[in-house]
Amino acid sequence: MKLLIVNGPNLNLLGKREPSVYGSDTFEDMFVRLQKDFPETELKTMQSNVEGELINFLHQADDIYDGIILNAGAYTHTSVALGDAVKGIATPVVEVHLSNIFSREDFRHVSYIAPNCAGSIMGFGADSYWLAVSWFVKNKS
Ligand code: DQA
Repeated sequence: MKLLIVNGPNLNLLGKREPSVYGSDTFEDMFVRLQKDFPETELKTMQSNVEGELINFLHQADDIYDGIILNAGAYTHTSVALGDAVKGIATPVVEVHLSNIFSREDFRHVSYIAPNCAGSIMGFGADSYWLAVSWFVKNKS
């Protein structure tokens, strides 16, 4: 099984960005743990702070990966285009967030991604990614 994890804006700063909200692990730390816990799964990750690049990642991944795990960061709450991109591809997408977006500011309560995803996982820190990978492994292998 081949899975792509796509991270959006500011997630390259994990480890130093608001550790009280996002924890002190870098995404590299999280990714290494996923590789250790899912040795049979081919995991790849891409990150961009640019909306259009995230859309290109999704288009290019379509039919190449068995699933996509998408943390769109703040674009979750603003990007109709990213929501359309998720809708436009055949590969199933699971939305993830480290934090529980519903327990935060009102503007974070909207997701343009969620309606087009297989499901959404949030609020479990690094384990949000872990749960998304395990869902794909259990249901799409
Ligand atoms: C986030 C939540 C978003 O609201 C925020 O803009 C992020 C990170 C999360 O993983 O909790 O950048 O997607």
